[in-house]
This record gives sequence, structure tokens and C-alpha cells, in this order.
Amino acid sequence: MDYGAAPEDSALALAWLDQFQRRFGHFINGAWCAPAQGEYFATSDPSTGDKIADIAGGSATDVGAAVKAARAAAPGWQALTPHARARFLYALARQVQKHSRRLSVLETIDNGKPIRESRDIDIPLVARHFYHHAGWAQLLGQEFPGYQACGVVGQIIPWNFPLLMLAWKIAPALAAGNTVVLKPAEFTPLTALAFAELCMEVGLPPGVVNIVTGDGSTGEALVVHPDIDKIAFTGSTEVGRAIRRATADSHKKLSLELGGKSPFVVFEDADLDSAVEGLVDGIWLNQGQVCCAGSRLLMQESIASQLSRKLQARMTTLRVGPPLDKTTDIGAIVARVQLERIEGLVARGITEGASCWQPDIPLPSRGLYYKPTLFTNVHPTSVLAQQEIFGPVLAAMTFRTPAEAVELANNTAYGLAASVWSESVNLALQAASRIKAGVVWVNSTNLFDAASGFGGYRESGFGREGGREGLREYLEPAWFRKAPLLGRGAAAGADDVNSAESGLDPIAGSATHPGDEPPIDRTVKLYIGGKQVRPDSGYSIECRSSKGLLLGEVPLGNRKDIRNAVEAAGKAQQWSSTTAHNRAQVLYYLAENLSQRSQELMTRLAAVVGKRQASRELKLSLERLFAYAAWADKYEGVVHSPPYRMVSLAMNEPIGTVGVVCPESTPLLGFLSMVLPLVTTGNCVVAVPSAAYPLIAGDLYQVLETSDMPGGVINMVTGRPMELTKVLAEHDDVDALWCYGDEALCATAKRLSAGNLKQVWTNEGRQIDFFSERYGAGRWYLDHACQVKNIWVPYGE
Ligand code: NAI
Repeated sequence: MDYGAAPEDSALALAWLDQFQRRFGHFINGAWCAPAQGEYFATSDPSTGDKIADIAGGSATDVGAAVKAARAAAPGWQALTPHARARFLYALARQVQKHSRRLSVLETIDNGKPIRESRDIDIPLVARHFYHHAGWAQLLGQEFPGYQACGVVGQIIPWNFPLLMLAWKIAPALAAGNTVVLKPAEFTPLTALAFAELCMEVGLPPGVVNIVTGDGSTGEALVVHPDIDKIAFTGSTEVGRAIRRATADSHKKLSLELGGKSPFVVFEDADLDSAVEGLVDGIWLNQGQVCCAGSRLLMQESIASQLSRKLQARMTTLRVGPPLDKTTDIGAIVARVQLERIEGLVARGITEGASCWQPDIPLPSRGLYYKPTLFTNVHPTSVLAQQEIFGPVLAAMTFRTPAEAVELANNTAYGLAASVWSESVNLALQAASRIKAGVVWVNSTNLFDAASGFGGYRESGFGREGGREGLREYLEPAWFRKAPLLGRGAAAGADDVNSAESGLDPIAGSATHPGDEPPIDRTVKLYIGGKQVRPDSGYSIECRSSKGLLLGEVPLGNRKDIRNAVEAAGKAQQWSSTTAHNRAQVLYYLAENLSQRSQELMTRLAAVVGKRQASRELKLSLERLFAYAAWADKYEGVVHSPPYRMVSLAMNEPIGTVGVVCPESTPLLGFLSMVLPLVTTGNCVVAVPSAAYPLIAGDLYQVLETSDMPGGVINMVTGRPMELTKVLAEHDDVDALWCYGDEALCATAKRLSAGNLKQVWTNEGRQIDFFSERYGAGRWYLDHACQVKNIWVPYGE
């Protein structure tokens, strides 16, 4: 017995296209506009190759008009009450539901995905996203006091979940009070244009949402437009890198959701039949064109052949066919170029020696189709195991022990998602905690919800979509943009800097020394892996007081020293799994030790920053240590209850090894204000102390040495900030970089970080008043010190 065809009726969707004579302009300032250069391109149905409609090609002029409209609309949109914005988002959610069938059909004919998916997954999730964010719009003032919208946001989305990606971008942006220019992917613009019509229907003020269609060049014009405050991008890692570089010299906030090569780990005690169904959803959903697709199957050796047999049997029952047929499991590949990319990678996999298996099932004679494909005998370093294929191709490997499973799972530059299958809750959650990925599904896969953040670790990008952390991407502290640039206006404590000459001998640290004897030299070294070490260069740099008096010398750290420090930090990662209570104890004890040495520290610091600032820095440094010790066991994750029989545990995980380039003018307080939130949350740090008073390193490591801080958690390399920032930014084992400096230093940090796409957080060249608890400490810092991992666990089945 076989299923008969059950085609979805596309008449209403086609009639809607006909209303526009199948020719669409941009949606700018609440109205349809012809493209400035009069160019159109075709969007076609990948299941037939037939053209569907002509779409406006966006030029820089079109992008400029859209940005102008969004800028003009921003004050009005922000002046609305949160409740009024909530009403608009609610209306959009409702409107999506009212037109859900038309939107599903449009999505399917434009993208090629099975109607079952667009109807039952994509469009309901779109509505859910707008509902959820209607709620955030309403609660914004209460939940994010002191924060404001970024302003005008440029958003670029891919073709795999066209309307869902639009919702993931537009809903939080609007809820936070931003206005938007969105560019859909060139292969799939139709549902974004249908959404534009919904915006008109709900009476959204003109200019709040603008949609400019076009290809990569339109996206590029949006990225480089000077009047954009934030770019949010989903797409390939390669383009993500280009965007990182293109925005480095600007103050644009950036979030990137990029590719993945997600592991699907099946332990020997898993329910294998469920795991097979999970694989169907994991790798064959949307023809495998899913950034979080479970494209690497890792099977415990003892069940590998049994699982492979079950999987092959299931693959022979998959129906590849017309996407509008309700019985189709696997639809069409989005475009010829994507099909050729898949074919090319599969051919390379075969050349590399992997075994390729495809079921003997028919493919339609027309259109862009690819059979579900299973590779075995895949080497972990091969192209099949490392490169995102973005097609219905599964690469299977085996492991023996749970430790090996985790090692293999993490053997990728990506870190977007993972599925873990085991009937043992201990084993599954232990693996979930060790796999480096933004989402881990236990005994499940490819589940999404507006309340649970989604986004990657490592080269899968940074920033989250959905949940509280997703909303944060569209907000910033209201004071931050108003802060003056360094060198302009008064810096915190600047009145004190250079103001007082202490009259003390800073090298000896005492007011007098007996007779004519010279003071005993004080040699400051680098501090790496818990040890004082000499610099590789053999050079030192002078450190002088505000009056030009020689205070001492510090090592001139170089590339090699940074590398050693990064290696030491890498070896100290165990810090992330010490308990929060223990980390708090270590910080309290650091405060004790710092307090013990306060007199001599005060004397030396005063020579550079004056007595008044020195005493304020010291006092606040002790307070800050107490504050972060307090936070250590209170900055915790949350549990979400998505509308499935699951909970998702949103865990605040440390990022890993973080480079920190510290502020000049507050040598002690600035250092601690940047380093403490990171170590509090379990990161290890390679810090470049204040360039104005690097001697502080000597005092700090003495305090560290007498504390319980494990070696390698805090490393210090003194030297020239620009030189050391470059090395940190380019280093692939540095997972994030916090950089405080002028605009040129911040831009360098961002531009050079594109290699491993590390997250870079800077002061944007602005002055931050570290003396103020409001600006210099707290959640804003902790939020940047962590990345949220959502672990989905079955609950209440
Ligand atoms: P892409 O990254 O080129 O396209 C994504 C979006 O970025 C589209 O809207 C495109 O017009 C735009 N774009 C392209 N170049 C741009 C630029 N220089 N500046 C600004 N925007 C630009 O992805 P593509 O070529 O469609 O697919 C290539 C591969 O990327 C796929 O095989 C897959 O591996 C990966 N991919 C990953 C996605 C994800 O969700 N993580 C989504 C789409 C593709």
C-alpha cells in the first residue's frame, strides 16, 4: 500500500500573487516603491523551475531610502507607550494566524519545503514569536529599566526559514523599540513581502518596518550604511566574517547566527526507534537545509550496526516529492546552486573514502531534488565531518566511551546545537553540559520556542534570538551612547589623575630610605599560569609618574608571551566547573588579601593617579570584589516552559578564554571591573593591565599568589596595548575579547577577530565611569561574560 497524492490547494496564494501582477517593489515608509534602478530579478519554484514573480533588486539608493524612513520613524515609535507597541505586535501575531494558510503555501512554493513543515512548524512559530514579543514590549520598562532601543536596525536573513527568520529578527527589534530595514534572501522573498502587507493591515506606522529585496550586494549596502545602529545577520559563516570586518570601524552592534555541523549523539542505552525518528527530524527536516541540522551522527560502537540498519530501513520509507503534497517528507532543494554545492561536497566525501548509501526511492523527474543520504566510514577530519553541507546528507561516525563522544562532538569549529540520546538522565545531562553548543536537545531535536534563546558558540556566531537574552541584543544601557569619547570631556576620576604628586618614592614604596643606599630594585614580571615569568623579548618599558618620575619598569610582552598566557588559560578551564560557592570564596579571600596590602598599594598607585583617586580606587576595588563574590552564586540561569512536554534549562555558561585589554586611567579599579565579572562566571582571562600604570600587575599578582585563585585563571601580560590587542584578536584559542581603549583600538580588536569569530565587547572608544556602580559593574558585565546554553529536557511525558 502506498499513499496517494494529497496536494495542497495553492489557488488563493497564487491569486494573491496575481493581485500584484506578480511584480513586487520594495516596502519603504509604509508603501510599495519601484526600485531606483528599475531592476528586477525572478524568484522561482524549486520544485518545478517555474518563475513565480519578479522582485525588485535593491540598490544602495533603495537601502538609503529605507534607512531614512526607519530613522524618521524611530522617535515616534519610541515615543509610543510600551502597551501601544505591544498592541501592534499582538495584531501582527493575529494577522499571521489569520493568513497562515496563504503564508504556508507561499513559503512552500518559494522555498521548496514540504507544506506539512511550513503549515505545522514555520508559520505557527512565527505567530508564537510575535505573541511572545508582544509580551516583552509590554514589560520592557519593568524588566529592562535603564535600557533603550539601539535605534535603526539592519537585518539580513537566509532562505531556509524565510518567514520564521523574519519573525526572529523583527519581533524582538520592534518590541525593544527599534525600527527596521530587513533584507530577505534572494531565493525566498515572497513571505517577507506578504508580511509587509500585514504591517499595512495592522496600521503599523510607516517606516517602522521596511523591506528591501535583493541579493548579497543589497545586504552589503545595508551593512555599510552609516546610519544603522545594529546589524543582525543569519546566514553563512563566510558572509558573517565579511560583515564582522565591514562593521569593525563603526559603532554598530552586531549579532551573527551562522552555520553549524551539529552532532547527533546516540548512546547505547538510547531508545533506538525514537532516535531514528529524531534523525528524520534532525537531518531531513527542510531537506537538511537547517543551520542546526543534526548532520553528524555519533553512534556508540555497540549499537552502531543495529542503528544503521534501522535508519536505512526508515530512509527507504521517506517520500521525496512535490512540496505541496501533504504526504511529502522531503521537498525540493532551494536553488540549483545549492543543489550543486551538495553534489560537490558529496563527491568530495566519496573521494575521501567514505561510504555513501542512498535508498532506492524515486525522485520527481522535474525540479531540484536530492535523495536522503547516509555516509558511513567517515573520518572525523574529512570534509563530510567538518563542513556544513546544508542538504539531506548525514555523516555517521562511532565512539566507544562517553568522553570520546563529547570529544568528537566538540571536534568542530562550530557550536550551534546538539542532540543527545540516552535513557540515562545522568549521562545525557553530563554530555549536554560538556558539549560546546548554544542548544542541546535531550532525546529530542530541532525544537524551537520564542522564550528559549537560540544561537551559537564559536564559529556559529554570537548573540541569541528569542528569550530575554535575544531581546538584549536590541537594547543597550541608555547612558552608554551618551558617554563621551576618550580624550574628550571629563573621564571618571580624571580630575585626580595627574593632579597630585605624592612626594613618596614609588619604587621603594616608602617615604624614606636609610642613608645614601639606593633602594632595592623591584622587578615586575609577567604573570602566566600562576607563575611570575620573564618576557620572551627581554625588553622592558618604563613606567613614569604624572610628573615624569621613573616609577619602575615592566616587561614588554609580545606575541609569544600572549600565546603562553592563552595556553595557560586553556589549561585552567577546570575553573568553569568549580562550584559558584567556591568561586565566591576565592573572590572574598582575594578581597581580604588586597585589603592587607592596601597601604603599600595606595602609596604606589597615588604616584600615578593622585592620593584621592588611589584611595577611591582601593575602596571601590574591595567593594567590587565583594559584589562579584556576591553575584557568583546569584547570577543564575532560568527554566523555560515551552509549549511542548519539555523544559529548557537556560544555563549561563562561561565563554572560555577571554582576552581583556584594561583601561588606562583607573589601573586597579578598571582592571578588576573588567576581569572580575569574567572570572566570577567561570572564564579564564589573559589581561593586559593599564598601559599608564602597568606596574599594577606586580601588586596584583602578589595578591593572587597569596589567594586560592588557581594558576592560569588570571594571567597578565604587560606591554603595548595595540600590539597585544592584535595578537589576542587573531588568536584562535581566545574565545572572546573585551577591549577598553580609543576608537582605533576597539576597531582593530573587532576587525582582527573575524578569524574565529570571537565575540568582541568594547567601550566603543567611550569613557566608562568605573567609579560608578551603575556604569562600572553588575548585570551588564555579567551578561557579556556568559553565553546562554539552552538544554531541552523531556518533562512530564
Ligand atoms: P549567504 O550567507 O550568502 O546568504 C544569507 C543572506 O545574506 C542572504 O540574504 C544574502 O543575500 C545575504 N548576503 C550575501 N552576501 C552578503 C554580504 N556580503 N553582505 C550582506 N549580506 C549578504 O548564504 P547562501 O549563499 O545563500 O548559502 C551558502 C551556504 O551558507 C549554505 O550552503 C549554508 O551552508 C550556509 N547557510 C547557512 C544558513 C544558516 O541559517 N546558518 C542560512 C543560509 C545559508
